Amino acid sequence: MSIYDLIVIGGGPGGYVAAIRAAQLGMKVACVEGRGSLGGTCLNVGCIPSKALLTSSAKYAELAHLSSHGIAVEGARIDLSSMMGRKDKIVGDLTKGIAFLFKKNGVDLVEGWASIPSDGQVKVGDDVYEAKNILIATGSEPTPLNGIEIDEQDILSSTGAIALDAVPEHLVVVGAGVIGLELGQVWSRLGAKVTVVEYLDRILPGIDGEIAKLAQRALSKRGLKFQLGRALKTIDKTNVGLTLTLDRVGKDKEEVIEADKVLIAVGRRPVSRGLGLEDLGIALDPRGFIQVDTSFRTSVPGIYAIGDCVPGPMLAHKAEEDGVACVEMLAGEAGHVDYNTVPGVVYSDPEVASVGLTEEALKEAGTEYSVGKFAFMANSRARSTGETDGAVKVLADPNGKILGAHICGAHGGDLIAELVLAMTKGATVGEVASTCHAHPAMGEAVKEACLDAMGRAIHA
Ligand code: NAI
Repeated sequence: MSIYDLIVIGGGPGGYVAAIRAAQLGMKVACVEGRGSLGGTCLNVGCIPSKALLTSSAKYAELAHLSSHGIAVEGARIDLSSMMGRKDKIVGDLTKGIAFLFKKNGVDLVEGWASIPSDGQVKVGDDVYEAKNILIATGSEPTPLNGIEIDEQDILSSTGAIALDAVPEHLVVVGAGVIGLELGQVWSRLGAKVTVVEYLDRILPGIDGEIAKLAQRALSKRGLKFQLGRALKTIDKTNVGLTLTLDRVGKDKEEVIEADKVLIAVGRRPVSRGLGLEDLGIALDPRGFIQVDTSFRTSVPGIYAIGDCVPGPMLAHKAEEDGVACVEMLAGEAGHVDYNTVPGVVYSDPEVASVGLTEEALKEAGTEYSVGKFAFMANSRARSTGETDGAVKVLADPNGKILGAHICGAHGGDLIAELVLAMTKGATVGEVASTCHAHPAMGEAVKEACLDAMGRAIHA
């Protein structure tokens, strides 16, 4: 058997993109994937199916608001199995698309679960493949909560929560993070009562506090119930459903709530076990993340790691950037990722999008900064579409250089791209504000927030 230049372990967005890029750079590449289809968590049970359901559920929810446009809709009903079928078809088509890209680029797909018996070797089943370099892109999995068993029937992870065959009456979501809010909103829109239980006294930890508050207000208006400052302690199955016992954080008090389904969304942990990394002497941190240097090198020469299984934001697009930079460096090129400008988007309604530092982080670091804000309520496009919740917030240094940008609002995930580009290119709020923005457009709120950072907003 010939020796590969690179074997990538994991066919998710980090791994498959790295494999294709490496092949483009002239390497002989194989990618090992055990799940039976390419695309990883993101494509199979994460980003893509959840966005398909977010879109379908948003269309249904919109029907209730069409009367204000003078449109009467009667007899609308949900056919959940068709909705799920549409989602599954989107996922199936996209995963097949990656298999096609592998063929086109000459990447060998090896199906099965890999381990690394020694450096330079990857074992899949009984076969051992030789490689000059190995790239670990094994991703992440849901973090379990002590003593709570996920059965994917009643007690769900995100995987079960995108595959229910009926709309639950009462879904309790544990964790007001990205997954909890996105999937909580899917089922709320489809008719479930949804209660989000969160340990902290706020939602969306890590997101700028002011923007998270705007998001909480808007999501509450759309029907989500929040129970903050509560930790899930136990779930008991009864013959009528589930009984959850919650601890009131810092209050020495318990509460009980009933549900028919519970989604546990309390974070994800790296997949780094079962690969033989400990035997190879590859350093992991206490949470299981693979330790790498700025060139993605693990502590063992010739073995690299990227994406969710290394420290940093657990985001598909960050994993892709890691993968491309890593193999470009392997090919002797200058691969680079700017971790200060990795955007994050929550695809709730309204969307929550952010890049760079939060106001809390700037305060903590004692950095001097100015704030510019613009509410969508004052944006004429938002008024005409009825998407007036939320605001754009930019944070700039005394020279106007943008340090962070945060949006709660419709299309926030698209609007943030302008500010990501501005930050990547070191642009100032003045430069963004002096850029011509179409009217009427949601993007004018970005321009106005930048003007506001200089004390010059026109419409506020
Ligand atoms: P998360 O880290 O975003 O949020 C978990 C939440 O659970 C936190 O607010 C935490 O305080 C809370 N929590 C922890 N233990 C708890 C307990 N015992 N009781 C009540 N609350 C508790 O994690 P999530 O939502 O599971 O997402 C995991 C990862 O997946 C994230 O890193 C995220 O970036 C990624 N992801 C990204 C998406 C996107 O980019 N749109 C979509 C979905 C996931």
